[in-house]
Parts: sequence; C-alpha cells; structure tokens
Amino acid sequence: MTFEWAAWANLAIRWLHLTAGIAWIGSSFYFMWLDSHLKPPAKPPAGVAGELWSVHSGGFYHQMKFMVAPPGMPDELHWFKWEAYTTWISGVLLLALIFYVGADVNLIDASKAALTTWQAIGIGAGSLAVGWLVYDALCRSPIGQNLRVFGIVWFLVLTAAAYGLTRIFSDLGAVMHLGAIIGTVMVANVFLIIIPNQRKVVAQVLAGQAPDPALGKQAKQRSVHNNYMTLPVLFVMISNHYPMVISGPLNWLWLAGLSLAGISIRHFFNLKNAGQIRADFLLLGALAFVTVAVLAETTKPPPPAAVPVPPFAEVRALIDRHCVMCHSAEPTHKGVTAPPNGVILDTDEGLTKNAAKVYERAVASRSMPLNNETHITQAERASLGAWIKAGARVSP
Ligand code: HEC
Repeated sequence: MTFEWAAWANLAIRWLHLTAGIAWIGSSFYFMWLDSHLKPPAKPPAGVAGELWSVHSGGFYHQMKFMVAPPGMPDELHWFKWEAYTTWISGVLLLALIFYVGADVNLIDASKAALTTWQAIGIGAGSLAVGWLVYDALCRSPIGQNLRVFGIVWFLVLTAAAYGLTRIFSDLGAVMHLGAIIGTVMVANVFLIIIPNQRKVVAQVLAGQAPDPALGKQAKQRSVHNNYMTLPVLFVMISNHYPMVISGPLNWLWLAGLSLAGISIRHFFNLKNAGQIRADFLLLGALAFVTVAVLAETTKPPPPAAVPVPPFAEVRALIDRHCVMCHSAEPTHKGVTAPPNGVILDTDEGLTKNAAKVYERAVASRSMPLNNETHITQAERASLGAWIKAGARVSP
C-alpha cells in the first residue's frame, strides 16, 4: 500500500484555502456594501461620517463610520486581516504542492519550453513577486491617481502576463500562476498598505495627533482595486474545471474576456449599491461573456473527420501508449502517484466507464494526453473518437 500523503495534503489545504477565501471575500463585500449604504446621521456625534441600521441574526445593528478616526481609541478594536493572510498562505502551499513538488507533471510543458524543474519554479515564484512590484509601482505613479486609466493599464499588464505564462507553462500551470499573481497583489495590498496605514492612524490618534488623511486615501485606493479584482480572481481559480477556457492557444484571450465580464458586473453592483442603476454595465458583462463563449466555440479545432470504427485491439493499444502511464492504478509516469481524478484506463472496464470523459478530453477539447507529451496524432484522436461514438464496445 502506498500512502497518498500528497492527495490528503491537497484536500486539507484546498479546503482551508476555499474557506479562508470565502471569509475574506465575504467580509470585504460586506464592508463595501456597508460603505455605500452609510447615511450621514441627523445629529452626528464627533467624527461620525455615516451610520446605518440593519437587522440580522435576531437583533438590530447600529453601525457608525468615523472618518478618519474616532476621537479616542476603543479598548478593543477588530481588525480584518487573517482571512486574507490565511487565503494567501494556504494558496501558496497549494501552488507549491501541485506545481512545484509536481513541476514535472503539472507545470512544465516541454512542447512549449524545455525548462528544468528549478527554472520553472523560479519563473513561477518570481512572477508573483514581479507582479506585485509592477502593480505597486503603477499605483504610486501618476497613473495610479486615475482609477479608470489605472484599471486599463493594469488589465493590459495582466493580459500580457497571461499571454507570456501560457507560452512557457502548461495551460493549467500558467492559468493558476495568473490567479496567484492577482491574489498575491490583493493580499499584499492588505499586508503592506492597508493594515500598516490603519496601524499608523491608530498610533496617531493614541498619540493625540490628527490622523493623516493621505493614509486613509491610499488604503481606499488599494481596497477599491481589490474589489474589482475579486470576480476575476475567483473565476481564474475555478477555470481549471473548464478545459474549453484554459486549453488551446487562445486561452489567454478567453481569460481576459471573462475577467472583463467580471469587472463589468462588479462595477454594476458597486454603482447599484451607491443608488445608481446602470444596466449598461450588466449588459456589457453579459456581452463579454457571450462573446467569449461564441468565439471559443467557433475557433476550436474542428471535430475529427469521420473515420471507420477501429477494432478494439487498436483502441487498447492506443490508450496503452498514450494514457496508462498516468491513468492506471499504479502509474509509472514520473511524479504521478495516483490515477489523476481517479480515472483508470488500463482496464477495459475503466475505459468504457470513462468513455464520455475520454471523448471530451482526448478528442473534443484535446487537453489530454497532458501537454500532449506522447505526441498523439490527429488520426489517432479521430480513431478513438469513432470508437467511442460507435458505443465504446469491447467486442471480441
Ligand atoms: C502525463 C500524465 C497524463 C497522461 C499521459 C494523460 N493524462 Fe489524463 N489527466 C492527467 C491529469 C494530471 C489530470 C487531472 C488534471 C486535469 O483534469 O486536467 C487528467 C485528467 C484526465 C481526465 C479528466 C477526468 C475528469 O474527472 O474530468 C480525463 C478524462 C483524462 N485525463 C483522460 C486521458 C486520456 C484519454 C489520456 C490519453 C489519451 C490521458 N488522459 C493521458 C494526466 C495525464
């Protein structure tokens, strides 16, 4: 028996990552909503800029926002930061486990770039650091003063990163690094800007000084950016479930288009929260989504030409040559310790049971064999497709 420690570690870390991410985004959405619904009170107490009443969990809540800070600090002050930090720490662990420990299988695609393990890890981890440095420099430059201009420039930078990464890494590795760059920027905003600035304000108030409004302004700039990056990062992180989005040479374009949809829809809700209904942004989001769907469908490789149904022995030989080194109970491929997604193809029973999925991945979307390591030909795909279409029969 082999102990599948990597699979169990993956499960535990992913569970944590998802939960922390939900807690982080949930609280951040809540505060964005709160901010846009605060009303100036009739008789404002000193320093209060807005208040709000709400009802939840069997009671009434009365929130007040002090700008820049209350006259004195309360004894206990809640900070919202561990949700973000935990999301990042667990995300980086997951990235390392899947793409750095498993670099040979999951990150390196020799047909794109023949990187050594350490080169691949260096570029991957380096991209996160470079992403932050570029983002932060843009924020501090004159471009950062204008949200719209900044948004366009940063969107183009990320699209260029998506293009570059998908040229050198496996599709999945590239896409997950793009998500990790966005996530790292968002968490670094919290860790390096928002929280330190809030700490300085607290210290100034405690020292009896007037808090510096520039600190609040900078924190606000970063949290607005984070708000617009939320839907794109969530989509990028789940896109691995959609081979039609992440595989193929135009995957960077589909990612950009769908991110645009997310940004536009986020903008619609931000305006709506502020009392402005701008259906055009909702429509723009929907349009971006539909455009990507139509373009991706119309540019995908044509279905394989109709070929005669091959005898089963031929199919078996083909699967043995191209798939079973990974997809068997005891894989022989370097770095693969268990059949990926539980798909076992070295038994006839496993093959027929998974026939529909095999069609999807090896014939339709062509995302298998992974990185086409084994150089499967179009004729072989067509032959496999014909056999599956004819009922995937293991006939004598
Ligand atoms: C180098 C290892 C490797 C080879 C070779 C390989 N696969 Fe995969 N396969 C994977 C990995 C890793 C995954 C999981 C990641 C993913 O879904 O992209 C996977 C996932 C799949 C899935 C998705 C299962 C699901 O639950 O959706 C199918 C189907 C599949 N492979 C079929 C094939 C077929 C058919 C071949 C041969 C033509 C093949 N694979 C060759 C590694 C491999």
